[in-house]
Amino acid sequence: MNTLNNNIFPVHHEILGRDEKEERLRQHARVIWLTGLSGAGKTTLAKHLEQQLFDRGFLTQILDGDNIRSGINNNLGFSDADRYENIRRIAEISKLFVNCGIITINCFISPTEEIRSMAQKIIGTENFTEVFVNAPIQICEKRDVKGLYSRARRGEIAEFTGITSPFEVPVHPDIEIRTDLLSIEESVQKLLDFILPSIGVGSSVK
Ligand code: ADX
Repeated sequence: MNTLNNNIFPVHHEILGRDEKEERLRQHARVIWLTGLSGAGKTTLAKHLEQQLFDRGFLTQILDGDNIRSGINNNLGFSDADRYENIRRIAEISKLFVNCGIITINCFISPTEEIRSMAQKIIGTENFTEVFVNAPIQICEKRDVKGLYSRARRGEIAEFTGITSPFEVPVHPDIEIRTDLLSIEESVQKLLDFILPSIGVGSSVK
């Protein structure tokens, strides 16, 4: 136990609860956790999913590796320990959003089973949907949207996921989206169909 925590008095029971907020928003909050290689299509899928949900009256928030790493996590790199800490903080942040009734769409490589199960544990299994955004590394490397794979191959980026740092394929994702086999529209539709039954009706539905 961290001794720094000894004088901390959480007040969860005194503050307005998740239920009231979900009722106001007419939705059930959860974290839709997109895991997969860089370039697999996590952010693209998240943006389209968010738009679809927003159009139906849901309140959502995207959390994305590139954004989070330039803000709250700008002191972290890509060692195993830093990736773990990156995801731990994201999971804690996601929990705050869920407690506020907001559907959170997370785009993080989250490369290992250990990291993903840690996130799931923090957020709570009942609040967590694991989505494996899957495209073979050859395809991700060919897409090379950010030019990072070629830089990693040239040795300019160390510990690059899929090249010099591992990516463990999720064993039991709630859903897998093969972005190399489906179009963007098909991918979004598949995810939307899977998510909609579990998140309520949204505030635009009278
Ligand atoms: S994670 O492994 O800790 O989950 P995260 O999703 O936050 O990673 O960040 C991944 C993003 O950082 C990639 O999309 C890419 O743009 C960038 N990046 C920079 N260096 C690396 C690296 N060594 N490995 C993977 N991604 C990297």
